[in-house]
Amino acid sequence: MRAAITAVNGWVPEYILTNKELEKFVDTTDEWITSRTGINERRILKGEGRGSSEIAANAVNGLLKKRGIGPEEIEVVICATTTPDLQFPATANIVSDMVGMKNAFGFDLNAACSGFLYALVTGSKFIESGQYKKVVIIGVDKMSSIIDYSDRTTCVIFGDGGGAVLLEPDESGMGIIDSILHSDGAGRVHLHQKAGGSVLPASHDTVDAKQHFVYQEGQAVFKFAVTKMADVSAEIMERNQLKAEDVAWLVPHQANKRIIDATAKRMGLGSEKVMLNIQKFGNTTNGTIPLCLWEWENQLHKGDILILAAFGGGFTWGSVYIKWAYDSGK
Ligand code: UT7
Repeated sequence: MRAAITAVNGWVPEYILTNKELEKFVDTTDEWITSRTGINERRILKGEGRGSSEIAANAVNGLLKKRGIGPEEIEVVICATTTPDLQFPATANIVSDMVGMKNAFGFDLNAACSGFLYALVTGSKFIESGQYKKVVIIGVDKMSSIIDYSDRTTCVIFGDGGGAVLLEPDESGMGIIDSILHSDGAGRVHLHQKAGGSVLPASHDTVDAKQHFVYQEGQAVFKFAVTKMADVSAEIMERNQLKAEDVAWLVPHQANKRIIDATAKRMGLGSEKVMLNIQKFGNTTNGTIPLCLWEWENQLHKGDILILAAFGGGFTWGSVYIKWAYDSGK
């Protein structure tokens, strides 16, 4: 028995932050952002008191409606996020309360940009164990809450948004077939948030020093990302004897179009087989992969082979091989 995705849904806030608007905050150009990253615009959750849980709850409400099931049927909720509503309790718990998933237990999982893949694989094990039959996996981030909009090296990249999938048992050979997950904590120096944790709790000084924002050494991260994401995608194909023509879609984390292109090239895939929404949503961290699945759902057919791949802070990276379990065309 395998765990299969049986429904997918996404949600992004309405407000569109364009490259042109960013030109007003920082010394950048639409041309630089587009050519270096592939991003034209991103969504921002504007307004006081609105957090990742709102994005997630909207995604999950739509997910359950699409599948035609009630929230009380959900048994497990895993929320992959780097921008939880609160330090504690878990955003999974908050979303469960908002949506009415009263019979579920839930927890958050933080693996930065690879979080959705980590959560998907973790959730699949609850299904494979035979103990649970309905598991919701959320990937969500409100990156605007930890971005310094005076830092041109990071503010042009990130956006807000998220999505969710439902995992259910499948005995017809579909579902999550294989996965490879890695992490290397030595990479943390290149991408992290300095303050707000137990090492450096929030203080006036940490706020003044802007230590609650994303710190990224872009070039160093780029070098690892481009190698590791391509390597792990090629590795999962090799160990499952998959040729390029067998793969219907690459579903990559959307950090930089140049990283995605290099991964597709390494896998021998043309751009027509690559899900790409970075141009309109930017890097939504845990949200990128479920948002892609949501947008492409109507083009997916039962039996399609998908390779999901991600690289992120930690460092964390991985790939997941899926046989899509249903015909979604409407
Ligand atoms: O999702 C989690 C993992 N994260 C990633 O995978 C991100 C990986 N890194 C990247 O995508 C890229 O490194 C960036 C998009 C962050 C930066 O692109 P880059 O091509 O690596 O640029 P760079 O850092 O080498 O900077 C080149 C130049 C520098 O100027 P000088 O020193 O050559 O004068 C930067 O100061 O571009 C400058 N620059 C900018 N110029 C205009 C940096 N950001 C900007 C900007 N607008 N927004």
